[in-house]
This record gives sequence, structure tokens and C-alpha cells, in this order.
Amino acid sequence: MDEKRRQLLTGISLAGAAVVLSACHTPSNSSSSATNDENKNDTAPGEAAPVDVTATEDLMREHGILRRTLLVYQESATRLRQDPASVPPDALEKAVTLFRVFGEDYHEKKLEEVFIFPIVKKSPGTPAMYVDVLLGQHVRGREITDYLLGITKLDRIPFSSVEPLAKALESFVRMYEHHTAIEDTVIFPVWKSAVGEAELDSIAAKFEEIEVQLFGEDGFEVALKRMEEIETALGMSNLEMFTAPAPPKTS
Ligand SMILES: [Fe+2]
Ligand SMILES: [Fe+2]
Repeated sequence: MDEKRRQLLTGISLAGAAVVLSACHTPSNSSSSATNDENKNDTAPGEAAPVDVTATEDLMREHGILRRTLLVYQESATRLRQDPASVPPDALEKAVTLFRVFGEDYHEKKLEEVFIFPIVKKSPGTPAMYVDVLLGQHVRGREITDYLLGITKLDRIPFSSVEPLAKALESFVRMYEHHTAIEDTVIFPVWKSAVGEAELDSIAAKFEEIEVQLFGEDGFEVALKRMEEIETALGMSNLEMFTAPAPPKTS
């Protein structure tokens, strides 16, 4: 089961993923506090010490992967309207599968809905009121993901599905951009102050344990690698292509 999940995430064989990742995996990439602590003493003089990844940093860098998927969705929606053939369904399917496995089944179901939301729900004021909306958005997101998986598994996107697919992608992006912005700026800080600094380290270790159970030792790195492959397949790997043009000159 663990291997099946990991293969869903990677789309490549477990052995292949291990070889690819072993070359770039460093202790500073790990979200395990314990692992980082063990490596602190190995730091050479003059070298920067490995940085611990806290529980909230872990959640926010997962949002980073999900936001990169949203950028793929937005770009795909724009291209679908211009030239549907320019969006290979299999590349888009890989992005949707990454969101399902890493975003919905792991980040949302195993972390936010178990550890974060129940504590924020008990806090006074506005943050608690957000929780039901955020949970509703998780459910709606999964419905949209089911639809996206159904369409993108086809060899060719039917002409009649191009506009509905573009709209579904855009509505998902709009919802999830707002969703993660509220989580990053309101929900996670409230949760962090509610659990307290002392407990954060043990929760970070618990998050890492869950990640290892689901994806192996290097789940975040595998997801990042997968994201980069998807961006390359869609011709989106060059950051410079997204630099905005100069603004109009004012007279
Ligand atoms: Fe969420
Ligand atoms: Fe989230």
C-alpha cells in the first residue's frame, strides 16, 4: 500500500525515485527535527548549519507545491482556450494526481483535518469561523479533482469539454488561492500559538512520521521532483518566461 501511494505520487518506480533523489537529498531538506539535530554536529566550520523545518514551515512548503500545481492549472486553462491541442492531457493528469495524493489525501486529510482544524475551531473569534468554510472547500476541491481526473485520463480532450474544463480549472485556482492565503496568514499562526512552542517539535516529528509512512523517507523531495517534471512537460520550467512586461509609459 505504501509503495502504491508513492508510485501514484512519483509515476516512476520506487527504485528509480530512490536513485534520482539520493543525488540531491541533503539533511537540510528533511522536515525531521530529529534528523536535523543529529546532523548539526557534522557542520564544517564556516558552513551554514542545517535549518530545522518547523511544523508550520512544513505545512507552508507543502502549500508551495500545491501553488505550483495551481499555476499549472491556470496556464492550462489559458492555453486550452487558445489551442486545446497545446495541453497534453497526460501531463495535466499528472498534475491533478499530484494534487490528489499530496494535497488532498495527505496535507488536507492527514494533517489539517486531524491536527490543525480541531484546535483552531476551539479558538475564539474569526479563525474558528473559517474552519467550516475551509472544510467545505476541501470537499468541493475533491469533487473538482474527481472531474479533472475523469477528463484528463482521456487520450484527447473532447471539444465540448474544453470550456467546462477551463472553467473548472480556473474556479479551483480561485478557491484554493484564497484558501491557502487564509491558512498561511490566519489559521496556521493561530494553531501555532495555541499548541505552544514546546509541543511544536514533537508535532513536526509526527508530521514527518506520517509523511514517511505514506511516501517514504523523502516525500517532499519526490513531490517537488514530480512537480518539476510536470512543468517541464508543459513547457513551464523557465521562470523567466513569467517575468511581467514593462508597464506602459506615461506621458
Ligand atoms: Fe486546507
Ligand atoms: Fe492547506
